Amino acid sequence: MVKVPCKLVTWDDVVNWCKALADKIRESGWIPDVVVAIARGGFVPARLICDYLGIVDLLSVKVEHWIEAATMSPQARIKYEYTIDLTGKKVLIVDDIADTGDSIILTKEFIEKNWKPAEIKVATMQWISSVCKIKPDYYVDEVKEWIWYQYPWTRLEDTTQFIKRFLKEMKDKKVWTYDEIVNTFKEWYGIDVGEWFYKRALEELVKKGVLRKVDDKYEVISV
Ligand code: ADE
Repeated sequence: MVKVPCKLVTWDDVVNWCKALADKIRESGWIPDVVVAIARGGFVPARLICDYLGIVDLLSVKVEHWIEAATMSPQARIKYEYTIDLTGKKVLIVDDIADTGDSIILTKEFIEKNWKPAEIKVATMQWISSVCKIKPDYYVDEVKEWIWYQYPWTRLEDTTQFIKRFLKEMKDKKVWTYDEIVNTFKEWYGIDVGEWFYKRALEELVKKGVLRKVDDKYEVISV
């Protein structure tokens, strides 16, 4: 039974969604002077959109997320604030997905206040309309039921986190074979990322001291 619904996104999906986004932006008659990628998820889409719209000015704002210990609620803040003058410029903020909307709201407010552009619009590939606090000006897919988009640029990071998550929830099971790990991954997330990612993620978990490799099995040390 799938515990976290996921969609395995391919590089081709990303290219097609960004072409569709660029078409929507062009058809709207609004062409930005500057594109701002929200780091890290917006990097690849922002770069493709610059190419497809012929834009040369690409900047980035790094948003970091953490869970506030006291409340266990997710928080977002801009990690490296810097000030530039964008007076009179039209700015397009790009992220991969508008989920809660927190990163986008934060970035938009930061840019408005500190960079003083003439206008700001937002583009994302996905918009989770059921939970998002804002609606992007441009988006490709409206997603009604929350799902994790497993984008190709977070494949190793997600695979590592996802394995760690079920090891933690099933912590009574202390010894795993490679096949048990892969099968549990597929059951929990409903996707298959392929051997290279499983192997690298397991190496990562061994390196971090979460797992220890004993012969051809994995022993859980601390999760
Ligand atoms: N980042 C924030 N929300 C996400 C989601 N639902 N899928 C992939 N990446 C995300």
